Amino acid sequence: MQQVHNNHELCAQIKIWKQQRKTIAFVPTMGNLHQGHLSLLHAAHEQADKLVSSIFVNPMQFGPNEDLSKYPRTLEQDCKALMEHGCDLVYLPTEKDLYPQGLAHITSVQVPDVTRFYEGESRPGHLTGVSTIVLKLFNLVQPDLAVFGKKDYQQLQMIKKMVRDLNLPVGIIGGETVREKNGLAMSSRNQYLSASERQQSAALYQQLGNTAKQIRAGSKDFAQLCQDATEALSAQGFAVDYFDVCSQKNLQPAVVGEALVIVCAARLGNTRLIDNIEI
Ligand code: PAF
Repeated sequence: MQQVHNNHELCAQIKIWKQQRKTIAFVPTMGNLHQGHLSLLHAAHEQADKLVSSIFVNPMQFGPNEDLSKYPRTLEQDCKALMEHGCDLVYLPTEKDLYPQGLAHITSVQVPDVTRFYEGESRPGHLTGVSTIVLKLFNLVQPDLAVFGKKDYQQLQMIKKMVRDLNLPVGIIGGETVREKNGLAMSSRNQYLSASERQQSAALYQQLGNTAKQIRAGSKDFAQLCQDATEALSAQGFAVDYFDVCSQKNLQPAVVGEALVIVCAARLGNTRLIDNIEI
């Protein structure tokens, strides 16, 4: 596996593969890889001649009081895992490589509508930071397809919309969420949880499952269902940021008969967990 540290080296290799008419699958990451990432690599590997990944803890998607400095960085073990999972090239840019002029006056990509609620409201600037870095990475890697986890459901739908709206020649694939034994969606941030919080965390997916079951059984009063879920989670120690039912394709308010998804974010101690369930 090649490790490249700047966009010149990256573009040189991509150019060679393009000349050879190789197809490229891409899995962008912020490192600290877990089974969730590895399943995305697996999904990508089967679909193209070359598999490219990137590790970059993108400062543009962190708010001023968020965990940028303490975000886990485990480069050596990540590279080993990438190699073992068939990755042909990993791009390991520095901040200077991707933001040579800094972040203050950078052109950004704002994807409307789908970003209006949820993470868009709770973490101002976060989704714009994600769409901007993903477009930059797409321009550099020029992938035929890219895989993103469904755990970050809003991020996935936002990227699909960006690709459609800007006519980017990249197929976007959503990878299924991989869960711990207790149902907790895998995330690099789970390691911030204490042992007791880890046990408590099971309640989040259980609650998503209970609410989904009621909707599948015919309940249509989504507002009441979400209020009940929020109260149940609060009683179990979660500070719920949002728990809502919305449309799968655009994350707008739920309409009975459409494909729906329940999205939620909740804090357990100092750890913010997000999860969802499709109905
Ligand atoms: O999902 C992530 O890990 C990040 O948001 C991404 C897509 C790698 C962009 O920094």
